[in-house]
Amino acid sequence: MKKLAGRSFIITGATRGMGAGISRLFAEHGARLVLSGRNRERGSSLEKELTDQGHRAVFMEGDITLPDCNRELVDLALDRFGTLNGVVTNAGMLGLGPVVDLDAATWHKTVQTNLDSVFYLLKYAVPHLVRTGNGVAVINASIAAYKSFPNHPAYCASKAGLVALARQVATDYGPQLRINSICPGPVDTPLIHESAAAFPDPEKAVSNAAGSTLMKRLGTPADIANLALFLASDDSSWITGGTFTADGGVMANL
Ligand SMILES: NC(=O)c1ccc[n+]([C@@H]2O[C@H](COP(=O)([O-])OP(=O)(O)OC[C@H]3O[C@@H](n4cnc5c(N)ncnc54)[C@H](OP(=O)(O)O)[C@@H]3O)[C@@H](O)[C@H]2O)c1
Repeated sequence: MKKLAGRSFIITGATRGMGAGISRLFAEHGARLVLSGRNRERGSSLEKELTDQGHRAVFMEGDITLPDCNRELVDLALDRFGTLNGVVTNAGMLGLGPVVDLDAATWHKTVQTNLDSVFYLLKYAVPHLVRTGNGVAVINASIAAYKSFPNHPAYCASKAGLVALARQVATDYGPQLRINSICPGPVDTPLIHESAAAFPDPEKAVSNAAGSTLMKRLGTPADIANLALFLASDDSSWITGGTFTADGGVMANL
């Protein structure tokens, strides 16, 4: 059964990793998609893959840290699909470095990418989501909202901010809007391999991350997409303001 038939969604960070996985699953379930990212080649390729399969999807290239990019994503969804039923905010970056060494530009870029962009997208999207009477937003945060990692101050602070922001928006805009956060553990995407490159033995860093889970493996984009689908569909119609870990058990075993 298609769980998102005829509903339109904006998915940020759709050009690779979890965002691409969420886009593929949402399309399979009948969603009409606006795909966001900066990389034109990867974005256009995903748009083609999905439209060749008979789905409705359009890629918009843009830097999500800019308010206008978020406004234009909303305008595009309305223009193409006539309505906006949901958003999945997923774009993110690491911005690694301990506070003493972290330059202010990296701090600001990380917070702008991970947190400010979500404020902008919600600012422009929420009026339309509320108008549908049952809009949804799924916020891809991280277990870094609750657990520190070496050299991740900007990342952890921005992800904690996301969880608080989602809770607040749930409070301000229910019952016409449901909004929930996902907190993934280590997932096998380009981002985790880039983060491992900062360690002396990157391969060991990735296998240690997998070993830190109770399931003894990295998550896959599909593991996260399944939770995003649940939170975006009517299956979760009484669930809002919540935070859901999908982490192979990392947080159960601190
Ligand atoms: N992988 C993990 O282990 C893990 C764990 C917990 C949480 N997360 C979170 O899950 C989300 C997805 O992560 P991922 O692992 O799939 O990462 P990824 O493979 O690095 O993908 C990140 C996505 O964000 C987009 N993006 C980044 N900066 C952007 C900007 N300024 N404007 C527009 N798009 C931008 C990228 O698109 P372009 O390159 O096209 O710009 C890309 O599509 C992130 O928020 C991340 O923090 C990841």
